[in-house]
Amino acid sequence: MTKLHQKTQEITDLVLKAQAKAYAETSSEPEPGLTQPIQWPVQCLVGPGLEGAIACESQIGYVNGAKGWLIYRGYDIFELCAYSTYEEVAYLLIHGHIPSKSELNTFKKKLALYRYIPETQETLAQFPIKKMQPMSALSLGTILMGQEFNEIIASASFGKLISSDEDSIPMETKPRGEEHAIYEFKAKKLRRQNITLNVCYHLIAGVATITAAIARLREGKPVVKPDPNLSHAANLIYMMTGKHPSPAEERIMDIALILHADHGMNASTFASMVVASTLSDIYLSIGSGIAALNGPLHGGANEQVLKMLQKIKNPQRVKSWYTHAFERREKITGFGHRVYKAYDPRARVLGPLAEHLAYDDPDTRNLFLIAKNLEAEVIATLGEQKKIFPNVDFYSGLVYRTMKIPSELFTPIFAVSRVAGWTARILEYLKNNRIFRPRAMYTGLFNQKYIPARTRTGTKKNP
Ligand SMILES: CC(C)(COP(=O)(O)OP(=O)(O)OC[C@H]1O[C@@H](n2cnc3c(N)ncnc32)[C@H](O)[C@@H]1OP(=O)(O)O)[C@@H](O)C(=O)NCCC(=O)NCCS
Repeated sequence: MTKLHQKTQEITDLVLKAQAKAYAETSSEPEPGLTQPIQWPVQCLVGPGLEGAIACESQIGYVNGAKGWLIYRGYDIFELCAYSTYEEVAYLLIHGHIPSKSELNTFKKKLALYRYIPETQETLAQFPIKKMQPMSALSLGTILMGQEFNEIIASASFGKLISSDEDSIPMETKPRGEEHAIYEFKAKKLRRQNITLNVCYHLIAGVATITAAIARLREGKPVVKPDPNLSHAANLIYMMTGKHPSPAEERIMDIALILHADHGMNASTFASMVVASTLSDIYLSIGSGIAALNGPLHGGANEQVLKMLQKIKNPQRVKSWYTHAFERREKITGFGHRVYKAYDPRARVLGPLAEHLAYDDPDTRNLFLIAKNLEAEVIATLGEQKKIFPNVDFYSGLVYRTMKIPSELFTPIFAVSRVAGWTARILEYLKNNRIFRPRAMYTGLFNQKYIPARTRTGTKKNP
């Protein structure tokens, strides 16, 4: 075995070790609950921000927050990280099965073809990318990329749409399965589905190309042409750096991309689905996902984690830094999750990977030790009590750092991966589309009397 292959095997072994630890620590937790088909309308307890609301059925991915499980189409995330590739996982999410050899070859060829978006790269280069926030540039690039596919979109006809009365009482939702409720996607289904699949492939390939172009343009370097012979992960690194990655680097990027590919109805997935449910352009829908992912409560957290670790400076300062933050009831970036009330399985993989990679890199090693100490402090104080554990963002930045990826690109790389989940869920939802339309409880005033501007005195504020 060559040294490089030994290294990739070491990485696989780390993933399998993390899997064994996860299984050992979560085996006594409750079994999965709500996984059966739904009779609409459904009753569920809903909190602010739609917390707890069930908006649709999905066969794409399952998150069990109590156990710390993440499953794509029935496959455990640890298995996929240990043995699969991003291309296989993206195909799995979209099509529902692991591709055969020939399906995978065709898919890879399409991705290689769609990576090539010279017009988008050229137009993007004319914008002040250095000054732009990378996620804004990515959103822009994604929309520009849609232009290159315009003729295909234009040739798709959506047929005759049937509208419905949205404010019927007591509930807007009609039971599913009624003939008139399945409307938008009947006509020319096969042709359209083919077009839509190609658009999804185009997005999966293109978001990576745009991210790499942003990386280059930010450094004042020319963009790099994609290499059709490389895997998605290797090509991403190649296009960002201009250098072919080692097998170990490729494997690490592949794992990072697999881990971030899908995660239930998170904010960015929901945002992209909401836009798609209006039958808007799918590139705009993905642009909305990118916008939602940007926030520090979502994908933007990994960049913030690194800043926080750098601010702490050394492992000995963790205790005093954390005590101060704890006393002020501050939220610690990279910890806590809306769904996981156990250790995030993605952090279980990324933590040991960060440790492994930081071994040869003194600077990152120091940051890793800070992270490890911080993890211990947070779990000791908030683990049992509030079920606060590291989330996916806590260690991902350290992993990317050892690969010399600038921190502003962490969130765009998250998008490179998550675009598979976004497109898969949009496709699934559109098969039985219903425009998203929750309600807000009106708590404002009634019977206000309008006073013309010229006779108004002072300002009257709503309570
Ligand atoms: C992800 C996140 C938004 C989920 O939030 P949520 O489900 O709405 O949880 P809440 O904000 O209601 O928090 C519940 C309790 O846990 C505490 N908590 C949540 N995340 C915390 C964190 N990162 N550090 C310290 N305490 C935290 C809250 O203070 C709250 O305590 P309280 O009940 O005494 O008020 C939240 O954990 C967070 O802001 N984390 C930091 C940002 C981050 O890492 N985001 C990436 C997510 S993948």
